[in-house]
Amino acid sequence: MREKANQDNIKKWIEGMARFNSTPEYGTTRILFTKPELENREYVKSEMRGIGLEVEEDAIGNIFARLAGTKPGLAPVWTGSHIDTVPNAGNFDGMAGVVCGMEALRMIKESNLEHKRDIMVNVYTSEEPTRFGLSCLGSRALAGVMSLEDTKHIFDKSERSLYDKLVELHYDLDKFKEIPKKMGEVFAAVELHIEQNNRLEKSGRPIGIVKKICAPSNFIITVTGVQSHAGGTSMEERHDAFAAACEMALFLENLALKCPSEYNTATIGVANLIPGGVNVIPGKVVFSVDIRDCNKDTKERLMKDMFAGFDEIAERRGVTYTSQEDNNDIPLTCNEKIVELLRTNCKEENLEYDELISGPYHDTLFIGRFAPAAMIFVPSRKGISHSPEEWTEYSQLKNGTEVLAKTLLDLSNMEENI
Ligand code: GLV
Ligand code: MN
Ligand code: MN
Repeated sequence: MREKANQDNIKKWIEGMARFNSTPEYGTTRILFTKPELENREYVKSEMRGIGLEVEEDAIGNIFARLAGTKPGLAPVWTGSHIDTVPNAGNFDGMAGVVCGMEALRMIKESNLEHKRDIMVNVYTSEEPTRFGLSCLGSRALAGVMSLEDTKHIFDKSERSLYDKLVELHYDLDKFKEIPKKMGEVFAAVELHIEQNNRLEKSGRPIGIVKKICAPSNFIITVTGVQSHAGGTSMEERHDAFAAACEMALFLENLALKCPSEYNTATIGVANLIPGGVNVIPGKVVFSVDIRDCNKDTKERLMKDMFAGFDEIAERRGVTYTSQEDNNDIPLTCNEKIVELLRTNCKEENLEYDELISGPYHDTLFIGRFAPAAMIFVPSRKGISHSPEEWTEYSQLKNGTEVLAKTLLDLSNMEENI
């Protein structure tokens, strides 16, 4: 390609977005439909227009920026990611995929090369579950697995539904039914993302080609024991909800360690002891469970074993528990033809690569349900992400953009199905 990726553009856009931040004292926080998030959307749209892209937004706030191809009847090629963050995050998780996508489209446009299909760089609404407790809101809607009705039953901490928030922001909800894409409507999709692990840093290779994306299953477990006096109740007589929850946590950790999957994790990230007094035996504990796996079968097996183990622990300790399933997603195997094209383009660009499994989920998990999809990873310093310490060198983002641009261009000139 005549135009090379320009690191200064990437830096300018990353830093441009970083200004929209509700916690400038510690990291970057940009939560869906808050003031900084809404302002950032306007900034990104205006920068997209600035490089000559046509910008549209759908009824859940997904942003689509199009570089028109020479054969408008053909299905487009997509790239893109998200621009919302977890609390006290860095400036790369999500944003990297949007700015590198924008730079790739600028390169293709300014190189004046023919590309038959439209190429689009998209921003998917709220990949992070920060506000509404559910991840990938925009890409879920695109995949047709979150309906307008569902948005009425998803609430933020102030009990406001996603539906009400969309109404308040004047999204045209009559058009919500136009959001889901059918198989064939998108030719192919490639998302660039920071790795959020240190495998690339350790191997010294600049590019990760993602083979599989783990999908989360999330539960809220409520353990009920008997609340009582910490001094008055003998050790033999108590039914301590926290002790039971701890045994459940260790049991789950052991299951995850022994799981035969190529890659899996299990995490308890939230635990609330009720009533929470130093001299009170907890009568109730509410904790979260996050299980990830790149293989549906091993994940289902692990969940079955988890509940069997929880039943046994509860019975033995004289407590009860209930489980609420918040989410149960399906892992994705990336499209082998795109993966092969990525391998070829890494070789052409003289960039070594590792083939990786993603433990974190991404919008591609849902985009891949209706389009052939794959991902490019670029190195994360020390593997740190979801932290103000998150960092990726701009030169690494430039490398990723070179591979992304070449791949988008190749895909956009393919006429036969992949
Ligand atoms: C996304 O941020 C995840 O938790 O995997
Ligand atoms: Mn994230
Ligand atoms: Mn992300």
